[in-house]
Amino acid sequence: MATGMIACNLAFLGFGNVGQALARLLLRKRGELQTRYDLAFTVTGIATGRHGVAIDPHGIDLERALAILLAGDSLDELSALPGISAPENFIASCGASVMFECTPVNYTTGQPAVTYLRDALEHGMHAVSANKGPVVHAYRELTALAQARGLKYYFESAVMDGAPVFSLFRETLPAVYLRGFSGILNSTTNLILTLMEAGESFAQAVAYAQSIGIAETDPSGDIDGWDAAVKVAALATVLMDVPLKPQEVERTGIRGITPLELDRARQAGKRWKLVCTARREGEHVIGRVAPEMVGVDSPLYGVGGTSSVVQFETDVLPGLSVVETDPGPETTAYGMLADFLNAVKAK
Ligand SMILES: NC(=O)c1ccc[n+]([C@@H]2O[C@H](COP(=O)([O-])OP(=O)(O)OC[C@H]3O[C@@H](n4cnc5c(N)ncnc54)[C@H](OP(=O)(O)O)[C@@H]3O)[C@@H](O)[C@H]2O)c1
Repeated sequence: MATGMIACNLAFLGFGNVGQALARLLLRKRGELQTRYDLAFTVTGIATGRHGVAIDPHGIDLERALAILLAGDSLDELSALPGISAPENFIASCGASVMFECTPVNYTTGQPAVTYLRDALEHGMHAVSANKGPVVHAYRELTALAQARGLKYYFESAVMDGAPVFSLFRETLPAVYLRGFSGILNSTTNLILTLMEAGESFAQAVAYAQSIGIAETDPSGDIDGWDAAVKVAALATVLMDVPLKPQEVERTGIRGITPLELDRARQAGKRWKLVCTARREGEHVIGRVAPEMVGVDSPLYGVGGTSSVVQFETDVLPGLSVVETDPGPETTAYGMLADFLNAVKAK
């Protein structure tokens, strides 16, 4: 290994759509990480819920791990330390310096991911997470723990997938004061509204969103605005430094938007969007998710399908927008790769 090369042991807690996309991205970028960033990595642990656990201090063959999961088999066969299945034992034994946490979200408590991230930090690992739950339920605690240990807790992919939102403020906007924001933060409802504008019924649009894997079997978390409310809470908590719980966000979903209303909006040169906003009021932040008609003068107007957008209003930059087109597990994986590089390169 060349002088100055940073060698990282990586572990995955959760290896579903996002974890596997990140594995493929790491394989694709391995050479570039070495030549451009002097960074070499070895994956020493992968844990899933029902597809086994593998730990190998000498390195797990990622291609084989991906093939095993594609075949629906168990990762246990790759393990040099068989018999470890409980997540807490996995974290203690995986020997990683960076933990990628990509387990399912729990909107109500953030658990068990909060405990996993805390454990990873206490075992000396940077914690990189795609999970919104811990951001809204334990951001301050996990960030303080990371700081006390000289580590990072980063979660770029929790809102707007791989698009830089949290790191935009952290890395590139020093001394900026965020007054508020508005945006479209839920892909499923934006796609449903776009399809209904094109003449599909609500039920047809939901069925299509389910068929391409972006809406859950029970799509109410998206349709009733919960996912959007969690994202509003996450942005307010981190970027405005005012802890906001999803339950405190005023919330109306898209069930009341009929084809007739979409048509009326079109005739008026407008579109219905599920708009997410936050604004300061004294010491507090008022978060809101509700359908609104937007006109062509809004940066939200042209954002259709699964794409998303956020416009920030700051004291120095009055309107700064980030638009993400066609997100998916690959873009989410990129957010985690960027977090990983920012964490290990940070001074
Ligand atoms: N999909 C996206 O594009 C996207 C975008 C932004 C953020 N996110 C967030 O990223 C996270 C992962 O999403 P995903 O789409 O990859 O989900 P997923 O495909 O359902 O994968 C979840 C993974 O976690 C494992 N798992 C479940 N419970 C576990 C436990 N208690 N301990 C260890 N592993 C456990 C699952 O194992 P088994 O399958 O074996 O049960 C699976 O490997 C979620 O928090 C999600 O909100 C996803």
